[in-house]
Amino acid sequence: MIRPIVAYGDPILKKKALEINIDEPGELKSLIKDLWDTMYNAKGVGIAAPQIGISKSIFVADFSFFKDEDNFFENELINMKQVFINPNIIKEKGDNYTYPEGCLSIPNISENVTRKSSLKIKFFDENLSPHKMECSGIIARVIQHEYDHLKGILFTDKLKYKERKKLREELNLISIGDVDVKYKMSFFKN
Ligand code: CO
Repeated sequence: MIRPIVAYGDPILKKKALEINIDEPGELKSLIKDLWDTMYNAKGVGIAAPQIGISKSIFVADFSFFKDEDNFFENELINMKQVFINPNIIKEKGDNYTYPEGCLSIPNISENVTRKSSLKIKFFDENLSPHKMECSGIIARVIQHEYDHLKGILFTDKLKYKERKKLREELNLISIGDVDVKYKMSFFKN
């Protein structure tokens, strides 16, 4: 089911998501399906559960969008489309690199964000099988962005004070629903 995407300004986006109990995960299938449906409907490449109003530690990503990027196949991807349950970034390394990021919860805004170039992550897949994966470049970037959502961090939090100040008005308008967007959103202040 396509769910409304929670817009910037909703406190759920600032909250740390709860870990899923792997021994008793509850109903995950429909949550996973909702994440995919909502992400594809909004033409996103990744989405985290808090963005559909559920504060649980899970995100999904479809990396196939980037398959023509340099070094894409140097990554040891388990699947092109991956579900990450209770992800844990064990290590981030490499040089800092800057890349423009956007977010389905912050439509029409794109800003350069600096992060480490590679990482090692542990997570469970949709069958609750554990995995470890090392990746870099754009794959790592998508994972870092979605992982941050589970910690209550948005890419705008990573910007320098001056850049954030420039966006303040625009972010304010998004939070009250004064934004031109093609997919359904929910606005906390409405
Ligand atoms: Co995002």
